[in-house]
Amino acid sequence: MEGSPPAPGDTLWWRDAVIYQVYVRSFADGDGDGTGDLAGVRARLPHLVELGVDALWFTPWYLSPLADGGYDVADYRTIDPAFGTLAEAEKLIAEARALGLRTIIDIVPNHVSDRHIWFRAALAAGPGRPERALFHFRAGRGEHGEVPPNDWVSEFGGPAWTRLDDGEWYLHLFAPEQPDLNWAHPSVRREHEEVLRFWFERGVAGVRIDSAALLAKDPALPDFTAGRDPHPYVDLDELHTIYRSWRAIADTYGAVFVGEVWLPDTERFVRYLRPDELHTAFNFSFLACPWDAGRMRAAIEATLAEHAPVGAPATWVLCNHDVTRTVTRYGREESGFDFAAKEFGTPTDHGLGTRRARAAALLSLALPGSVYLYQGEELGLPEAEIPLDRIEDPMHARSGGTDPGRDGCRVPLPWTADAPYSGFGSATEPWLPQPEFWPAYAADRQTADPGSMLTLYREALRLRRTVPGFGDGPMHWRESVPGVLSFARPGTGDGSGTGDGSGTGDGSGPEDDFGPGDGSGTELVCVVNFSAEPAPLPPYTEVLLTSGPLVAGRLPRDTAVWLRAAP
Ligand code: GLC
Repeated sequence: MEGSPPAPGDTLWWRDAVIYQVYVRSFADGDGDGTGDLAGVRARLPHLVELGVDALWFTPWYLSPLADGGYDVADYRTIDPAFGTLAEAEKLIAEARALGLRTIIDIVPNHVSDRHIWFRAALAAGPGRPERALFHFRAGRGEHGEVPPNDWVSEFGGPAWTRLDDGEWYLHLFAPEQPDLNWAHPSVRREHEEVLRFWFERGVAGVRIDSAALLAKDPALPDFTAGRDPHPYVDLDELHTIYRSWRAIADTYGAVFVGEVWLPDTERFVRYLRPDELHTAFNFSFLACPWDAGRMRAAIEATLAEHAPVGAPATWVLCNHDVTRTVTRYGREESGFDFAAKEFGTPTDHGLGTRRARAAALLSLALPGSVYLYQGEELGLPEAEIPLDRIEDPMHARSGGTDPGRDGCRVPLPWTADAPYSGFGSATEPWLPQPEFWPAYAADRQTADPGSMLTLYREALRLRRTVPGFGDGPMHWRESVPGVLSFARPGTGDGSGTGDGSGTGDGSGPEDDFGPGDGSGTELVCVVNFSAEPAPLPPYTEVLLTSGPLVAGRLPRDTAVWLRAAP
């Protein structure tokens, strides 16, 4: 295992980092009890170093009843005993850092667990008491208060309100076990600022902000009326004040933020990325985009054009713990992602999906900005079908059983083909069952296979690290035949790189040029064939990497290539 600590002066690392999302519960089981844990992560750090990522984002590892996989936090300063201890988290952060891997943690400011000390105190205190002011408690409507205070719907389905025995209702935009905090209350703000400091003091380099656009609510809690502007709880202006104060804290530690901001309005989206707010936010329009040249090009162009004016780097995300795995999505007729369209039994061609996922890996790793990889993506894992009686995700039950839920992308990883439970580490069956075909995807088997997804990712990340021109910096489209995307990253070959950390241009260049090139040396060119026909390659001096074999010098369908070429 190589790996060495990041250079201390490298303050712009996040602009083009490859960040690996660890879903702790399903990454590796160190104590054999069926649940992944910090001991498992520590033992598998060599895998992440060999893969070649720069940072790790850990989904919530705090004390939690796991009503929503840990996004129901009972105490931010305690690690859930199923995962380990605070001392062990500190060790993990330090060990990872010594190997060159920075740590990003997940903060869930919109809500807490119903077991959080604040919510328990609010319940015990009763209606009208100040303890309830930390949440949104209200009397109901209707003659006996039997109608919820407003018509808001939970993101997981059903009403966003639950009634207590004392007659009051409380708001939860997610599950009833996740009461929403009242962000108009100063204690809520103060507590989160202290939580940030608590973790920055422990060496954390960044924070992923869960449901970042939902915290603030219209105090009148009005009914939701479609098209009403502003929305009563999405993207309210006061969020920017909150994130500016967070930014000031992060800056004193040199730490960074990535926001989970699902907003269709791109002008509103990039407001979160102004220089004194969040450093980055997940690019969900890229993730949700179907496998189609025109749609992909439009998503990429829109992303770069939006980010340019605020100087923030784009992020490229294909997958996470909430969405259908890439290999499965791209193997379906409807290859985009939409929460509302998920259903059981969708026909899937895994061979096709795998070819496309390989091409998509080269596409996303060649684009300017940072890249997120979700655990198992490097193994090309497909979405698993979970037996109905084993599904834990509240999305499934709250949909009335029609939504398959998100557990299919959260199955414990296969490490060793010939070991029990594919080497996940458990002595008993893991918390979610693994499909029978899991051993075929095991990391050890893929390490030995030059044609595997793991080999492709390792090689792509090695090149991205060592060949100048990748990561932050300019790109421009090159001419290509219909159904094929071709773009260049200029400035390779003279060793100067292109990223100066100052952003991706001022948008005033030619229409399809995102930032200034230096006009020297060779270009790094990425070509992706989305069409059914093999595509000719542009003139090149070297093939750096392909996602699948070239056929008679042509790029087959659903395949991508990285070339070195003259500008
Ligand atoms: C985010 C998380 C998701 C969680 C929800 C509520 O969307 O990614 O997993 O269920 O927030 O915290």
